[in-house]
Amino acid sequence: MQYLPDKIRPDARHNIIRAASRIVVLTGAGVSAESGVPTFRGDGGLWKSCRAEDLATPEAFARDPRLVWEWYAWRREIVARCSANAAHHAIAKLAATHPETLIVTQNVDGLHSEAAAALGEPGSAPAMPLELHGSLFVIRCTRCAWRRPHREPIDATLHDTLPRCESCGALARPAVVWFGELLNQTELERAFDAARAADVCLVVGTSAVVQPAASIALATLEGGGAIVEVNPTETPLSPHALVSLRDRAALALPDMLL
Ligand code: OAD
Repeated sequence: MQYLPDKIRPDARHNIIRAASRIVVLTGAGVSAESGVPTFRGDGGLWKSCRAEDLATPEAFARDPRLVWEWYAWRREIVARCSANAAHHAIAKLAATHPETLIVTQNVDGLHSEAAAALGEPGSAPAMPLELHGSLFVIRCTRCAWRRPHREPIDATLHDTLPRCESCGALARPAVVWFGELLNQTELERAFDAARAADVCLVVGTSAVVQPAASIALATLEGGGAIVEVNPTETPLSPHALVSLRDRAALALPDMLL
């Protein structure tokens, strides 16, 4: 483990989070790595073997919806076999014990929600994450406003077997944000407002190269708060972090947060 920069004593890292009342937790694919969900960049990352332009853009879907659905069906199968890990559970617990915590994730795997639901705090609704890039397990119409949760297997062998809108019959698509598409502006504003007001932005498992998500942490800095990062490798946010913990999320977070 390394602490960068050496501004605070290592043992004080616990207190930064525990002393904070307003916290934003910004996560990326790395938080789910130990659940078995592939990351996008780095060794074994999805973008090493696939091109985002062929699979994760509106143009790619218009060109070849079967191919895009085949890739999403494959990712859904992988994720369906994965469970929330110790990092998701530690974050869920933090959110349950610090009511002014907002979990903002770029992940589409639903594992933060699974961890929140698993807490099962009697009489209280679990703190659900803001899923900035959507969900693998929601589909929506390419023509009208129809959308619904969807966990059934997808048959992407033929164009005719692809999922269709149950309202207007047009082709349905994964309710994820593709490159070149706008994020939900209401959700984005909520994330930036919370980040600006936060004492700490805990950034976990993101390469911090995709905007606007990566800038959410910088909004905390602008608002006078601190960034705490957990990532085995350096990111563009590392120089701005009060603490960069070079460790895997599932190992570091339970110790740090619980
Ligand atoms: P990336 O794959 O770009 O980055 C994953 C990060 O997790 C890297 O910085 C790794 O060092 C780190 N990491 C790996 N294992 C870890 C572990 N066990 N614990 C903690 N960190 C670990 O994933 P994202 O930053 O989430 O967007 O990517 C952002 C967006 O780019 C995604 O949401 C996706 C992608 O293209 C869309 O599809 C729109």
